[in-house]
Amino acid sequence: MRASTAATLLVGLLAPFTLAAPTAETALTPGGFRVAANIHQIPSGGSLAHVGSEVHVFSANGTVVHKVTPAATKVKAAVSPEATGWVAYASWLNTGSSPISSFTTTWKVPAVPAANHGQTVFLFNSIEPNSGDAILQPVLQFGPSAAGGGSFWALATWYLVGDQTFFTTPVRTTAGSTLNGVITLTSSSGSLFNYNSAFSNVAGTTLTVTGAAQLTWATETLEAYAVTSASDYPTGSTVFSGINLKLASGAVPTVAWSHVSDTADGLTTTVNTNGATNAQITIAY
Ligand SMILES: *[C@@H]1O[C@H](CO)[C@@H](O)[C@H](O)[C@H]1NC(C)=O
Repeated sequence: MRASTAATLLVGLLAPFTLAAPTAETALTPGGFRVAANIHQIPSGGSLAHVGSEVHVFSANGTVVHKVTPAATKVKAAVSPEATGWVAYASWLNTGSSPISSFTTTWKVPAVPAANHGQTVFLFNSIEPNSGDAILQPVLQFGPSAAGGGSFWALATWYLVGDQTFFTTPVRTTAGSTLNGVITLTSSSGSLFNYNSAFSNVAGTTLTVTGAAQLTWATETLEAYAVTSASDYPTGSTVFSGINLKLASGAVPTVAWSHVSDTADGLTTTVNTNGATNAQITIAY
């Protein structure tokens, strides 16, 4: 009895400390909500390099300003059920022996959504390795994210690898602007691949990463969080056009785009022109 009283007392004393164990603060990225301490802004003019198991962040003058060791995890795994995540997209997986050397997409910044409930809308072309553990993506964003943002459109290029996230400083843009999302394989050596991604016509959006895994899964995507009504999306549709894929061999791959819609929420993905030369894919809201 005494022991049990003591045990109860002990539990009573320890419980507040046990419960107080802090849960890590998270912030929104194009890979869902991720631990905020693992989200890094790349200095203006800076770059990224895989060095062994680490990723080094370089400032514009070549100084290493940060070193992190990513823990392997799927970049889409962080998407929880209540966070909508990837709602409508088209994709193609390169299973051939020659790597994708270039992936370009053109689209127009839509009008801002009619409603603002604190939602976040991401529109991008992207490319991932076979493992699903990384993604390189020039992203158009409306609403808040770990990179900043608000009730306006902004552009940033993101690289997520394992549990680590990197982004360039967001640059504001306006409805009607034409965007060119570009992902380029600049060189490779064995299993190490060097990439460059940017909105080619927007200064400050270039992200260079060296020593990455080969990127094989190309997508055109609408991703959204905290949407509570149809008017949280832009009206009409987003037409991803000028979709061009090239291989390191110099060949143009034979591409049939897979597509995913969210018809329950009125979002449809349509492949208007298939292939890897001036393909066109429309996501209607
Ligand atoms: C290089 O950049 C870093 C970070 O911005 C800065 O601290 C450092 O002083 C710079 N070094 C030189 C040699 O300019």
